[in-house]
Amino acid sequence: MKKIIVALLVVFSQLYGQNFKFAVMSDSRGDVHGVNEPVLKKLTHHLLTNNPDLKFILFLGDLIDGSWKDASENFSQMKYWKKVMSEAYNSSTLVGKKVYVGIGNHEVRTPKDEANFLKVFPDMPKNGPADEKGLTYSFDYDGVHFVVFDTDRWYYGDTTTTKDDHPDWHKFHHYQWLENDLKAARERGVKRIFAGSHEMFFPVGGHLRDGLANLGRNLTLPLDSAAKARLTAHDKLWKILVDNKVTAFVSGHEHLYSRQSVDGIYQIISGSSGAPVYDFNPTYDQGDKKKVGREFTYSQALPYYKALGYNYGPGKNSQKSEDFVGKRAYHYVLFDVQPDSVSVKTFGMLIKKNTMTKTDSTIKLIDSFTIK
Ligand SMILES: [Fe+2]
Repeated sequence: MKKIIVALLVVFSQLYGQNFKFAVMSDSRGDVHGVNEPVLKKLTHHLLTNNPDLKFILFLGDLIDGSWKDASENFSQMKYWKKVMSEAYNSSTLVGKKVYVGIGNHEVRTPKDEANFLKVFPDMPKNGPADEKGLTYSFDYDGVHFVVFDTDRWYYGDTTTTKDDHPDWHKFHHYQWLENDLKAARERGVKRIFAGSHEMFFPVGGHLRDGLANLGRNLTLPLDSAAKARLTAHDKLWKILVDNKVTAFVSGHEHLYSRQSVDGIYQIISGSSGAPVYDFNPTYDQGDKKKVGREFTYSQALPYYKALGYNYGPGKNSQKSEDFVGKRAYHYVLFDVQPDSVSVKTFGMLIKKNTMTKTDSTIKLIDSFTIK
């Protein structure tokens, strides 16, 4: 009898409930043709073999290291990345595009890179803004809406001259498109929304100076008008996600795993599938001791904490939210979308203290929580 009830429940949930898994990964740059091939392969294999019911992967940028000079090298590195990910591309169980790729700053280092990115990944949805087709896009899966937006454009200068060519990183340009996209999703009755981009809203480690707030180096208070404008743009974009009750915002860029809830929505960073792992924002209690990578000292970080409204001072975590959880690991984040909640599990190889790459190489569960 018990078996029959269980079987009926499974059939019922398949017919009437949402229940599917997707994974978020990012930042796999490394030494083998620009890719950390051994780690990326190992994580992907672990993800796929342990989750035959996985539907797709969102891979949010910095796939490769890239070159500042040679577009053909970047093209070749992106193609190589696809080869390294062949287990996912060849999977018979993943659906849709199998791997939904977002572009990151490391894919945008020369003027030709964006066009080459679109050649290597030609089948991303083309419903984005006119000048970001295949770079910013959205899709629905099983009543859940996903939007991936480009936060690292090469260029928004005068297209008639190359003089002002510059990487236009750490920004988003299409607020109206995003608002319309989310509104349309709500109107057709989607149950949940997940939003993702390469850059994060609330930096947690080595990228305190950039991300979408993009406050630059050597920040001083009070903020000058340029810093104020960037922070206003950041707040406006975050508010669109909050107003549309996004379940979670996911990103890469910070080579760390972290999650925290801000204004009722989660920011989850899945920031290293092979890229060298940073350390977290320095706390008051750690003092001005040097960290492993490019992180600021506490004194250098303090103006950023104040500008971003972080918890700082004795006993505080130097992050945006008190519920912050972070791990230093090569990892992926697995989302199990259920009818009334989302179970989130992160698997990874922990990185040894005071190093950026040394690991015991055992993939294990490193965080688990539920979003209602
Ligand atoms: Fe990045």
